[in-house]
Amino acid sequence: MTVAPRTLLVTSALPYANGPLHLGHILEQVQTDIWVRFQRSRGHHCLYICADDAHGTAIMLSAEQAGVTPEAHIAAVKAHHLEDSTGFLVSFDNYHSTHSEENRRWSETIYQRIEQQGHISVREITQAYDADKGLFLADRFIKGSCPKCKALDQYGDNCEACGATYAPVDLIDPVSALSGTTPVDRASDHVFFKLGDFDALLREWTRSDSLQPAIANKLNEWITAGLQDWDISRDAPYFGFEIPGHSGKYFYVWLDAPIGYIASTQDYCARTGEDFERYWLLDNDTELYHFIGKDIVNFHGLFWPAMLHSAGLRMPTAVYAHGFLTVDGTKMSKSRGTFIMASTYLAHLDAEYLRYYFAAKLSSGIDDIDLNLSDFIQRVNADLVGKVVNIASRCAGFLRKSFDNRMSATCSEPALLAEFIQEGEAIAECYEAREFNRAMRDIIALADRANQYIDEKKPWIMAKEAGLEQDVQDVCSTGINLFRVLITYLKPVLPDMAGRAEDFLQVNVDWHRLDGPLTDHQLDTFKPLLQRVDPKQVDAMVTASKA
Ligand code: MSP
Ligand code: ZN
Repeated sequence: MTVAPRTLLVTSALPYANGPLHLGHILEQVQTDIWVRFQRSRGHHCLYICADDAHGTAIMLSAEQAGVTPEAHIAAVKAHHLEDSTGFLVSFDNYHSTHSEENRRWSETIYQRIEQQGHISVREITQAYDADKGLFLADRFIKGSCPKCKALDQYGDNCEACGATYAPVDLIDPVSALSGTTPVDRASDHVFFKLGDFDALLREWTRSDSLQPAIANKLNEWITAGLQDWDISRDAPYFGFEIPGHSGKYFYVWLDAPIGYIASTQDYCARTGEDFERYWLLDNDTELYHFIGKDIVNFHGLFWPAMLHSAGLRMPTAVYAHGFLTVDGTKMSKSRGTFIMASTYLAHLDAEYLRYYFAAKLSSGIDDIDLNLSDFIQRVNADLVGKVVNIASRCAGFLRKSFDNRMSATCSEPALLAEFIQEGEAIAECYEAREFNRAMRDIIALADRANQYIDEKKPWIMAKEAGLEQDVQDVCSTGINLFRVLITYLKPVLPDMAGRAEDFLQVNVDWHRLDGPLTDHQLDTFKPLLQRVDPKQVDAMVTASKA
């Protein structure tokens, strides 16, 4: 099936460089990666761009705690992030850092353009200040007793004991979480981005098709409540970029974080010789998509489009938010062993199990996604090993034993095969719409039909009767042809298993190459494509996560 080639630039949110990736991050990257691999498999030019988000107070403090420079700290974290993502077969075209020269230049340029357009204002604000550490304190760095229930040792703006929300100034006996001293009020100038100037633009943007309905509604509530000026500066000391013309003031981490998408694209283009302008400048027909979690829609749905627009850059084609990962029905928890780091999973289990499980659960909505560990084992074993791989393994044996791994000269079931290929268009629509769960359901339904076909023909009985050799070869060749179609549809989810299937089939299984049947075709000897999930490994992973 040929479709007109498109050019797409796709991003996942940039992980903070202050800790390892956990399975929540992996959910997002796997969702993005499946969509990207699907686009590539259809023959489109699709770039997948990401980076580490390296700035801010938290990163500065964790470097200090580790006794290393922020630069050394973020370099080490970035290497670990990349190793984990690669372990989950996430196929970034480029992975950069927001602490880079490209990002510094673009942050300055975008800021200066915004300032020239008159969208910046400066005014004094008063904040809690740790005189001992010489730092202004964000809410989460202030602790005290809850003003409502008096529980001790509660953080900045909400009480974990009674759920009350309040301002840090309302805390009883507030102290700095960094030094234990009492914070003082201190005034300083801050730089603001006048988001209200973009009211009309953002109203129009939320009415376009660029956002999921639930997200558009949420953003509209904020717009209707009145868009506030956004504080984009932080006082020194701060690990980030100094704001041009405002010495001692640094860009707030969320100002330069999304600009990291541009910086990483530029780094990619410099490396590969691709044309940068086609991706970020106005007047091109490249599509731009951001995959993010639902906790950061304000940044991507309001600030970011306003920044791009005022800087004369293109706006996103769409922003796609997903829900949060829960494990066994609840928020990931260290004590239950369900706060699972990416590297802990990879030490025990095959990445493709989880890629498939996530695919089977993901839709275009923003509902949370639950990783139920017993369902995970059951689902992967039943669907992938029991149904999909089973088609190939049961047919391959006969073709090897009696036909030297050669497929029949003609296809005995052209109508059945045509139906499988025909179904591909509906499955492609599901992928395109990020309805991966429906795509998986349709693919597994086809696998059921293929197995049913083999069950009806019973090649193992025919093989025992004289004169039916041709029928055995035909039925098994049809089985292999059906398997080839299914593995083509699964390749965006299971790239490694598809690679092993390609070795066996001796053809490439990209979607845009799927045409008629393989006939008179030489196969390689079949080797197992996927092991069953071992429940003991799942237990071991949970135990390791408790440590
Ligand atoms: N650094 C910012 C993003 C900047 S993008 C210009 C950030 N980093 S993060 O490390 O906290 O999160 C990275 C992505 O992972 C976000 O999209 C976030 O929503 C997602 N997730 C973090 N925890 C998650 C779950 N438990 N479940 C699903 N996604 C989660 O935010
Ligand atoms: Zn309380």
